[in-house]
Amino acid sequence: MLNRRTVLAGAGAAAVVGAGAYALASDPSHDALAGELRAPRAPEADIASLVHFATLAANSHNTQPWLFSQQGTGIAVAPDLTRATPAADANSHHVFASLGCASENLALAAMAAGRTAAIDYAADDERVTVDLGADGAARDPLFDAIIARQCTRSTYDGRSVPTEDLKRIEATARMSGARLRIVTDRQEIEQVLEMVIAANTAQVGDPAFRTELKQWLRFSARRSVATRDGLYSPCSGNPAMPDWLARTVFDLVFTAKGENDRYAEQVRSSAGLAIVVSDASDKAHWVEAGRACQRFALAATALGIRHAFINQPLEVPALRGDFERWIGADVSPDLILRFGYAPPMPWSLRRPVEDVIV
Ligand SMILES: Cc1cc2nc3c(=O)[nH]c(=O)nc-3n(C[C@H](O)[C@H](O)[C@H](O)COP(=O)(O)O)c2cc1C
Repeated sequence: MLNRRTVLAGAGAAAVVGAGAYALASDPSHDALAGELRAPRAPEADIASLVHFATLAANSHNTQPWLFSQQGTGIAVAPDLTRATPAADANSHHVFASLGCASENLALAAMAAGRTAAIDYAADDERVTVDLGADGAARDPLFDAIIARQCTRSTYDGRSVPTEDLKRIEATARMSGARLRIVTDRQEIEQVLEMVIAANTAQVGDPAFRTELKQWLRFSARRSVATRDGLYSPCSGNPAMPDWLARTVFDLVFTAKGENDRYAEQVRSSAGLAIVVSDASDKAHWVEAGRACQRFALAATALGIRHAFINQPLEVPALRGDFERWIGADVSPDLILRFGYAPPMPWSLRRPVEDVIV
């Protein structure tokens, strides 16, 4: 019943403290803040407004590994490596992909505020810049999906996505150096699931991975609201509970079998997989893969389609080769997501913009 990056103190811990003692639903103070962050607001071409929309992007472990600064006519997005997760992401691939997700949101917000926006990655200082141009840009409908997008880590309803919608999503996410491979063949989905389970088993058994994950889990609303980052239990369908208790039971209830069973059910309930692939494995392409991923997520959201990540086969160095052979030598795989239809889950939080503007 447990889900990795999610929190896990699920069924086992609930049994320990007595089921129903803690709300399965999210907490009102948490939900009010999450709602405030996603309340519709008109974008403006100033750094605070644009960064607000940028930070609503998907990002690894919700560590929000980014720092924004004004740079001439544009905004620079730099990695905050103090928020990297080396046990799950040894080479910081996910940090740079997260910068790609954020810069895509930032550019969409700038355009919605009427300014043109050009995204570039500079290898010398390892920063992404979003250069803002003259007035006159058109609002992209993807902008409106920014506040409605979330990772939905639940069992989906099993319905297929119409081919027309898949084509539209694929075209929206296509970049020059990165793109999607959509997989709807059930046999291929099973092959990927097998690799997810093998890699998940390795991660659950890795003490460094467990320690790192635990550091970013937010078991209680109080802790989540205090830090405004990390992985809040109800966002993954697990009950919130006091941190002291959850930390104690975590090691007992976070098992490979529980995790793998849930992943199997979730993947099999999905309409398909979206695999983000790029032309090379370097930081520029990781950023571009993040942009493609964010565009995929926004395009899907606009069509009422949910998504969640299942990256494990790419995160365990000893098993990554299996996935690379499966996908083929002509591309470098970056991210794996599942998609389909489901009701929304509770929303994650973000730190205040003042904390990420330097
Ligand atoms: C590069 C990258 C890697 C991610 N990897 C995972 C993952 O392996 N498992 C998972 O459940 N979520 C993963 N996520 C999703 C984040 O946990 C999620 O975006 C974050 O918690 C914020 O929640 P939200 O997207 O619902 O706003 C990843 C996101 C990014 C951008």
